[in-house]
Amino acid sequence: MVVLEYLFLFGRNPKLSYIELLSYFLSRNVNFAVVCFCEKAAIIKLQTDIDLDEIINNLGGTIKIAEILFCCNEASLEKNFNVACLYTGTSNKIVYSLETIGASSSIISYFQENFKKNEIKAVHKEIAPHTIAKSNKELLSFVVLKVGPLFYVARAVKFFDPHTFRERDISRPNIQPEIMSSIRLSRILINLAGVKPKARMLDPFCGIGTILQEALLLGYDVTGVDLNRKRTQKASENLNWVEKTYCVDSKWSVRQGDATKLSQYFPDDYFDFITTEPELGPLLKKAPTDREAEKTINDLQKLYKKFFTEASRVLKAKGRISIVIPRIRAKSTKTYRIDMDYILRETGFKSYNPTLKSNFEVKLPVFYKEQWHKIERLIYILEKA
Ligand SMILES: C[S@@+](CC[C@H](N)C(=O)[O-])C[C@H]1O[C@@H](n2cnc3c(N)ncnc32)[C@H](O)[C@@H]1O
Repeated sequence: MVVLEYLFLFGRNPKLSYIELLSYFLSRNVNFAVVCFCEKAAIIKLQTDIDLDEIINNLGGTIKIAEILFCCNEASLEKNFNVACLYTGTSNKIVYSLETIGASSSIISYFQENFKKNEIKAVHKEIAPHTIAKSNKELLSFVVLKVGPLFYVARAVKFFDPHTFRERDISRPNIQPEIMSSIRLSRILINLAGVKPKARMLDPFCGIGTILQEALLLGYDVTGVDLNRKRTQKASENLNWVEKTYCVDSKWSVRQGDATKLSQYFPDDYFDFITTEPELGPLLKKAPTDREAEKTINDLQKLYKKFFTEASRVLKAKGRISIVIPRIRAKSTKTYRIDMDYILRETGFKSYNPTLKSNFEVKLPVFYKEQWHKIERLIYILEKA
């Protein structure tokens, strides 16, 4: 069996995307080894029989997968570039982009020398990954990552296409921006749970069903619950649409209900995992006062404690929860947070960290903030103890 090294280039939140990648591999029993994780990319050893198309399409946080052409120290760069096969196509005119991470952009001169030597007219241009994903022209994309004394020179082979997410976001029957999770974050959250497809997932605060629809597309059987009946109707319409548009054959159901009464609706040990962006408190247009922030956090703390108590009943043994927990910064700049240690201790959950067994551990929870969002979020992966 041949093993190749790939560079995974991450989007806005590299830590979260790195954990997502490892969770995804673990859930699919992919044999992998992390060579390094730094700044915004990871280098991973993988078997060649892996389906890279499936990986790039299923992940929410990886924007490029690149194959490593060579790895060397600075003294050997010229020698390696001299013999490297940077372009395997037949045209003598190409357009290429180059992304450098930790390396000086002057490394481009080695690329230019190589193309000149091979009589290829190469034009360098900054090209966004989604442009390459969409383009039917031959656009090459290289990444050079410098880690310590080593340079990894890689050629991108797969590109994340955000158009498919955007298309789905605007075409589904119902959207409600003020309460819905983003498609990208939904995908990441689902993958973070690290559970095999076909498993049974619950979103107990499902809103209009963004997390549910993405889980359905990833091959899970999904159930949604929301307190608000109108939203459960909208979620059902969205899921119906996803089922027909993408011909999925997994099962789904949505019901009006309370996330603090889950054991009234479902048997014990029923779900394999829960993925959710729960109630986050009132919509904030500006930073709240200390009093407002404290009240919101106290209310949410009570809601979450009840929800976790019920979750521990309806989840199977070792069932996971991937969840967004808010943190509020008041006008005074003081930060108000949920006491998760207390909730987890009281309800029988512990933190699960898929990076623990790799050589590059990332601490959980991971901080996450959308620029436009007033609430800061912490992303947890938990396991029923
Ligand atoms: C941030 S939104 C959920 C977004 C959703 N996860 C998605 O995929 O788009 C939070 C939802 O929690 C619901 N909610 C609030 N309290 C609840 C409770 N006790 N039980 C169930 N749902 C609740 C709200 O009606 C709202 O739709």
